[in-house]
Amino acid sequence: MRIGRVRSWETSVGCAARVCGLSLWALVSACGPGGDMSGGSSCPMDTPVSCPSGTPPSYADDVAPVIAARCGACHAPNGQEPSKLFGTYTQVFAQRTSVLGQLHACKMPPAGAPTLTSDERRVVLTWLVCGAPNN
Ligand code: HEC
Repeated sequence: MRIGRVRSWETSVGCAARVCGLSLWALVSACGPGGDMSGGSSCPMDTPVSCPSGTPPSYADDVAPVIAARCGACHAPNGQEPSKLFGTYTQVFAQRTSVLGQLHACKMPPAGAPTLTSDERRVVLTWLVCGAPNN
């Protein structure tokens, strides 16, 4: 019975990023690939464990356009979060750890804003895991 209760709790919270962040156990057991929140959004939590071999994605060609499109409207001087700007490489690099955390857990973009495609996620997360080079 105890297991059943835990399982239904798990199902009901699904992959809500803020909840999963509270417990590694919940992260591992409830938030694997395909984890789905009852609200309908899902977070793949698909950050690569290490930088893959080969050339990392390019900041200028691959990453900057995604950040501009998906984050730039709010993280702008006249946007909702003017204290965290991502308009230049230096700004993104300085905040790379929190950007990685927010992206990994699907906390940003916030609910209601258009999210990244799986390709865009892969590019940005891979670039971050590769040390966020200015390439
Ligand atoms: C719809 C507007 C909006 C969009 C789009 C958006 N953000 Fe945010 N972001 C906010 C707001 C508002 C805050 C401050 C409040 C909060 O943390 O929820 C914030 C906070 C943050 C923080 C700091 C969080 C913390 O707790 O330290 C980071 C990092 C961040 N955003 C990264 C991003 C990235 C990366 C993207 C694009 C992939 C993005 N945001 C897209 C509105 C937005």
